[in-house]
Amino acid sequence: MTKTNNFYITTPIYYPSAKPHMGHAYSSIVADVFARFNRLDGKDVFYLTGTDEHGLKIQRAAEKNNLSPKEFCNKISKTFKDLTKTLNLSNDDFIRTTENRHHKSVEAIWNKLVKSGDIYLSKYSGWYSVSDEAYYDENEIEERDGTKCAKLSGSKVDWVEEESFFFKLSKWGPLLLKHYEKNPNFILPTSRKNEVVEFVKSGLKDLSVSRTSFKWGIPVPNSKDHIVYVWLDALVNYLSALNFPDEKDKLYKKFWPASVHIIGKDILRFHAIYWPAFLLAAKLPLPHRIYGHGWILSGEKKMSKSLGNILDPLEIIKKFGIDPLRYYLIKEVSLGNDGNVSMENLKNCINNDLANNFGNLCQRVFTFLEKNYSNKIPKVSLSNKKDKEIIEKTINSLPNLVKLMQKQELNLYIRHVVDLSFEANKYFNDMQPWSLKKSDPNRMDQILYTITNQIKNITILLSPIIPETSEKILKILNIKSVKLSDINNDKVLNFNKPLNNISILFKKIDEQ
Ligand code: MSP
Repeated sequence: MTKTNNFYITTPIYYPSAKPHMGHAYSSIVADVFARFNRLDGKDVFYLTGTDEHGLKIQRAAEKNNLSPKEFCNKISKTFKDLTKTLNLSNDDFIRTTENRHHKSVEAIWNKLVKSGDIYLSKYSGWYSVSDEAYYDENEIEERDGTKCAKLSGSKVDWVEEESFFFKLSKWGPLLLKHYEKNPNFILPTSRKNEVVEFVKSGLKDLSVSRTSFKWGIPVPNSKDHIVYVWLDALVNYLSALNFPDEKDKLYKKFWPASVHIIGKDILRFHAIYWPAFLLAAKLPLPHRIYGHGWILSGEKKMSKSLGNILDPLEIIKKFGIDPLRYYLIKEVSLGNDGNVSMENLKNCINNDLANNFGNLCQRVFTFLEKNYSNKIPKVSLSNKKDKEIIEKTINSLPNLVKLMQKQELNLYIRHVVDLSFEANKYFNDMQPWSLKKSDPNRMDQILYTITNQIKNITILLSPIIPETSEKILKILNIKSVKLSDINNDKVLNFNKPLNNISILFKKIDEQ
């Protein structure tokens, strides 16, 4: 992973062809957790998301809505931008491919590809899916109910014949394979890497990178009848947000190459084959990693606009708040695999882990401090073996937790944090400080000090996942901001100031 102190993470840019759904929310929340974790770990982070606004798919969606493509994109892109607030994303920028800065970058990349001799004019004839904005070979399509469809996505394909510029993708196969081999973590999880390697080994064909049959896109420099293929256009967003082609720009110098592109597995080929090939041809450094997450399923099917089986994240947030949704998606969906989501699972997960466990522990400890310590945290130094054990275990697990997050092992990370919180709960129950009020008040002080310190530690570890609630807990504790290293630092606890008012941290979900 990146050796510098800079960390650049991106989400896919979303098609504003309809309103955002759970799949989009998932990609963005996952990227946000990594962005927040890296900031917590002292990195200088740039987190990018945005919308992918060109192409026939968008042009058609606009026509359906009786709007010009630009008007349509302005409208839907805004719902994606609003979603960044609703999901509590910490993105540093929101890029739209209809912006001038992006237009400039795409032209610059195109010119570089022409200059390197990687572009030639020919004629494309083959299958194209507008829904996927992708070309397919004969062996990648099948007939379903009399309609030709892409095997992979199931979306309808049409036969297309038009003059087109081609990118010499075939030439880059051997170099790509070398890159995958030399950088075993370039594509994660490994199962996805294997898929890509197999595909590249089977031989790459040159890629059609311009269209002439419609107009909604960026014109090819000096060939205005052609517009740039929407995927070449879209991928460049990762550079345009850093003010490329100005390679002297502060953002570009600091953050390119990207540390990790978070994407869904359906768009792996574009990111793990086309994108590095374009960059190699343009003589630009390659991103450090492409992470392809699985799909959110609803009743065993991919949740998607085209399938119409959408579980609305906004409704869930309205009912329960954003943190329960973030926590649920991160904890219960295994990042590299597909995951089924349901109301029943959401309820169990939130009630077990948050309401009945960590939330309950916080409430009990804070109430105990209020009643017995005039709302202040007792200051002692650790001497008891049990107390030391629980705090030191957390401190000692830090290097491993950082490593897990650097490899996007999000589920192992959160499992570890949940274990810590169950152990903290058990510690508080076993120690029974309430029984020591008279017999051993010094021991009671030690227990309260230890458990409050541990609540602070667990809150720090949970903060990338549930930022809003973590902020509430830290506010109760009079802590303004934290770093990962504050886990090994009890000085951030304010022993002289009374705790702030306790608010409800996690509501129990009693939905049927
Ligand atoms: N515009 C392209 C991406 C260009 S990036 C240079 C695109 N857009 S999309 O809106 O169709 O999808 C964006 C992301 O959402 C993809 O990573 C996709 O995998 C993800 N999801 C869409 N539906 C999904 C699920 N049901 N589950 C999880 N993520 C899925 O592709």
